[in-house]
Amino acid sequence: MLRIREHLYTNLLSLVSFTCVLTGTIRLANGDYLIGVGSYDMTGPAADVNMMGYANLDQVTAGVHFRLRARAFIVAESTDGARFAFVNLDAGMASQLVTIKVLEKLKSRYGDLYNEDNVAISGTHTHAGPAGYLQYVVYSVTSLGFVQQSFDAIVNAIEQSIVIAHTNLNPGSVFINTGAFSWFATHGTSMSKDNKLISGDNKGAAARFFEDWFTSTTITNYTSVSNDNALLEVAGKIKPSGGKLCDSKSSKASKVRKNDGSLFVGAFCQSNVGDVSPNVLGAFCTDTGLPCDFNHSTCNGNNQLCIGRGPGYPDEILSTKIIGERQFKKAVDLFSSAKEKLIGKIDYRHVYLNFTNLNVQLDADKFVKTCPAALGPGFAAGTTDGPGAFGFQQGDTKRNLQRYNTQVNDFWILVRNFLKEPSQYQVDCQLPKTVLLDTGEMFDPYPWAPAILPIQILRLGKLVILSVPGEFTTMAGRRLREAVKETLIRNGNGEFDDSTDIVIAGLTNTYSQYIATFEEYKLQRYEGASTLYGPHTLSAYIQEFNKLATAMAKGEKLAKGPSPPDLSSVQISLIVQPLGDSLPPEKKFGDIKQDILLPRRGSFTKGERVDATFWSGNPRNDLLTEGTFAVVEKLQGERWIPTYDDDDFCIYFKWRTDNSSYGLATVAWDIPIEASTGVYRIRHFGSSKETIISPVEYFTGTSSAFPVS
Ligand SMILES: *[C@@H]1O[C@H](CO)[C@@H](O)[C@H](O)[C@H]1NC(C)=O
Ligand SMILES: *[C@@H]1O[C@H](CO)[C@@H](O)[C@H](O)[C@H]1NC(C)=O
Ligand SMILES: *[C@@H]1O[C@H](CO)[C@@H](O)[C@H](O)[C@H]1NC(C)=O
Repeated sequence: MLRIREHLYTNLLSLVSFTCVLTGTIRLANGDYLIGVGSYDMTGPAADVNMMGYANLDQVTAGVHFRLRARAFIVAESTDGARFAFVNLDAGMASQLVTIKVLEKLKSRYGDLYNEDNVAISGTHTHAGPAGYLQYVVYSVTSLGFVQQSFDAIVNAIEQSIVIAHTNLNPGSVFINTGAFSWFATHGTSMSKDNKLISGDNKGAAARFFEDWFTSTTITNYTSVSNDNALLEVAGKIKPSGGKLCDSKSSKASKVRKNDGSLFVGAFCQSNVGDVSPNVLGAFCTDTGLPCDFNHSTCNGNNQLCIGRGPGYPDEILSTKIIGERQFKKAVDLFSSAKEKLIGKIDYRHVYLNFTNLNVQLDADKFVKTCPAALGPGFAAGTTDGPGAFGFQQGDTKRNLQRYNTQVNDFWILVRNFLKEPSQYQVDCQLPKTVLLDTGEMFDPYPWAPAILPIQILRLGKLVILSVPGEFTTMAGRRLREAVKETLIRNGNGEFDDSTDIVIAGLTNTYSQYIATFEEYKLQRYEGASTLYGPHTLSAYIQEFNKLATAMAKGEKLAKGPSPPDLSSVQISLIVQPLGDSLPPEKKFGDIKQDILLPRRGSFTKGERVDATFWSGNPRNDLLTEGTFAVVEKLQGERWIPTYDDDDFCIYFKWRTDNSSYGLATVAWDIPIEASTGVYRIRHFGSSKETIISPVEYFTGTSSAFPVS
């Protein structure tokens, strides 16, 4: 937990913050550093695009639960002193190609100020964001290849969040508050593999709650008519508006959380998340309700029946809320009690490594190697957060796929050999993993797995951040942190000591799946089977991070290593663009299809759900970045005031086409207990195109009014 206290120019005691849990408030004092924070909407295509994480072909976007953001934090010693930028994404993970493109954009804006050495881009690991933004084949199979719109939304949001943070760099101080909580590790899998609404999952939710908590004191609580009969009478007169054309900025004007660069920023970063599930009630068989087989996470041999339960089971939205709230509440505690100010040097080291065959020294006379990337059957089994579809089990170390117990695996051997039969070197190197997919030796039509990976250390005084390009397990992360700390202390000439705080920033800069310990690797459960570079992957990381730590402690430079490839020119994209939108005769976009259904008593009460459905265009026509697809407006005198938008946890924007391919947008609102009594209506914003080459047109429409009492 880090808290930044920052002083804004204007002498206004406005508050800006970043949490990882890094957060900040402003203090009227000379700061120890220059600090800037920024945040930008990175919600990708909300229709027909596969989601990143579960690799479930059927899980394609169909709306938004709440928006995804890039949240950036820059800290500098002085205007021309050392600095680094850390960006936290509501995304499954970082992507090498995204990092490459962001760095190009930063270079054209700022020269060498921000570069691969001092920029870290980290993913929260939500499994509910659009896929198609990674450059290696394995990560874009279910998204039918590359999805330009997903990619552009992410690159643009990172760039903009850094620009905002850079623009508001001001003197400030950073406070640290440790506890079990810093960079808290838990999977972004509160939302299941059947969810189709874009969502930041539990970390995105925590950030949304935290930012809203911080800002809530400034949100005006409008009072209006409170007499029930008067409410009913007013509401009864207001009918749906009918669809109206508007412009591309109209939805921004109706946004409740407008981004003018001064938004409070709270980011919840991911850490060594490898084996941490938010489904804390445990895994149970969906048929019998009994706990699953412990060693294989199966029910009577079937992995698909064994499903983890979140604390809100069976309601995944409630689970997301509960796990998000736990992180948010702890962050508030730490934020409010942080007293220890970070002082001292800003520094960083970064290298690229070719993990295909690194020499690793285990002890004085024992040398081993990493292997080309490969995945074992336990990978295809998935986990209890989202089991795989092909009948594999975790914990399989049989040396021969043929002996694997289901017929489906004859099929898989065929598929594997069709793709690539592993070399004998690879088979031996990966033991005891059985090579199911030899991704490190597959290069057609372009590389299936990364070979070149970046590792990075960022230092802010006594806080040391290790950027790792994957998901370390709890124990792997612990070993890495301990090794690096020891190395820093040993070589640091007193600059580092026991109080040095080491945190792991997971899923950062690029993605290479899991990093399990040697012992976990031997078990070949999901994490071991997804540890790409063989049994000594973790030892290789520890060895190479120790080199970085030594260089940092001694003030030495390091060779940059082999650059990762830019595969943008060879990406294949099979996803079809929306062909154009159509409407039933006599209808306009934004016209109401299904109006509010008032309960018999004539008004809604808090806790109830209200919804309306509009004729609409495909949300991929325009992502309405920093705008909103859905607004709940409240009547205030003669004016309608936007009160909730599609960033609110209580609003659902759902998109579908009906059986005539007409687009339909449903906006649902779970009326919060805190909502004030009054007259409300639902508004929808959207965009349409007549044909694939037509210009985009924008429209809006509202429901009839309804009282909430
Ligand atoms: C699970 O695996 C452990 C370690 O291999 C073994 O000791 C234990 O007996 C197994 N439990 C079951 C129920 O198979
Ligand atoms: C990584 O190393 C392997 C083995 O030495 C080599 O074949 C491969 O070309 C290297 N990869 C890259 C991208 O440099
Ligand atoms: C298409 O949907 C409409 C309702 O929107 C329904 O009345 C009609 O029966 C449906 N037609 C078919 C072929 O399913």
